[in-house]
Amino acid sequence: MNISCWVGNLILQSPFVLASGIAGNEYSLLLRALRSGASAVVTKTIFKDERNGYPPPIYYESPNYSINAVGLPGKGVDRFLEHIRRAKTLEKPVIVSVGGTSIEEYGSVAAAVAKSGADGVEINLSCPHVEGTGTEFGSDPELIRRVVEEVKSAVGDKPVFAKLTPNTHSIEGLGLAAVEAGADGLSAVNTLRGMVFDSVLEEPVLSNVYGGVSGRALHPVAVYCVYALRKALPHTPIFGVGGVYEVSDALDFFLAGADAVQVGTSISQRGYGVFEELKKDLVDYLERKGYASFEEFVRKKRRWF
Ligand SMILES: Cc1cc2nc3c(=O)[nH]c(=O)nc-3n(C[C@H](O)[C@H](O)[C@H](O)COP(=O)(O)O)c2cc1C
Repeated sequence: MNISCWVGNLILQSPFVLASGIAGNEYSLLLRALRSGASAVVTKTIFKDERNGYPPPIYYESPNYSINAVGLPGKGVDRFLEHIRRAKTLEKPVIVSVGGTSIEEYGSVAAAVAKSGADGVEINLSCPHVEGTGTEFGSDPELIRRVVEEVKSAVGDKPVFAKLTPNTHSIEGLGLAAVEAGADGLSAVNTLRGMVFDSVLEEPVLSNVYGGVSGRALHPVAVYCVYALRKALPHTPIFGVGGVYEVSDALDFFLAGADAVQVGTSISQRGYGVFEELKKDLVDYLERKGYASFEEFVRKKRRWF
């Protein structure tokens, strides 16, 4: 059974991709995900300079969700470029997530990673805009437009995906702004803002007080976001991201209009073996339903939009 798919001009051996921030950015960790069956990887978000991130505790997990406020730590783009080159040895796409605290920083990081061989760039729009009011780039359509234009002009013909936040009243508005500015595709969604307390300590579980919710609790929110984007943008490539544990979660995304999915939090609970399980269960599903390929399934189910 052929379960390969196109997302924009990237060909993927299966629709299951590693989400940003889940493995570290060492090439060995990215290769491990690719060898375990991911059809592509999205790196952790890279900034121009080294960043420390927040002090612990930065991550808390329950059966139904995870919440994190990691603070986007990293070594800075220059020390990362060699890892991109080495991660490309398996001939599967390496998509580099770029961040910035200014529009120019997004552009310079994107230019550097594109030159080092990244197959695509995902723009993490959930970054604080330090020159503005401190709000995130991703909640303002005008800022999204400017960041996407800057990144597009920096990367030549490499595909650019804008990763959208669910912390908005109109994800379609954000998606339209990104696509009008030249984004080749969208990733929906990043984490949903949330807060959890430790009732014994009577304190928030995270040092940053609040953080981003991922995992099972995010899943239906993310599926709705993909559906809303697909209705507004019938032909734009879309990655669904949020709470993919079982193949039924991935099917939710495909039926809502996603071309492929990214897998994050479930890896911390189920390990990288989740990729082979998802692939096997997708093949079983397609065979049971009488489809000849994943592509045929995608083409047929789109009819009801
Ligand atoms: C610990 C952790 C770190 C993350 N780091 C990033 C990051 O660096 N850049 C980014 O765009 N998203 C980051 N994310 C968000 C994920 O890529 C994904 O959008 C989100 O977790 C929802 O998918 P999931 O439910 O499968 O985890 C991170 C998520 C987690 C749990």
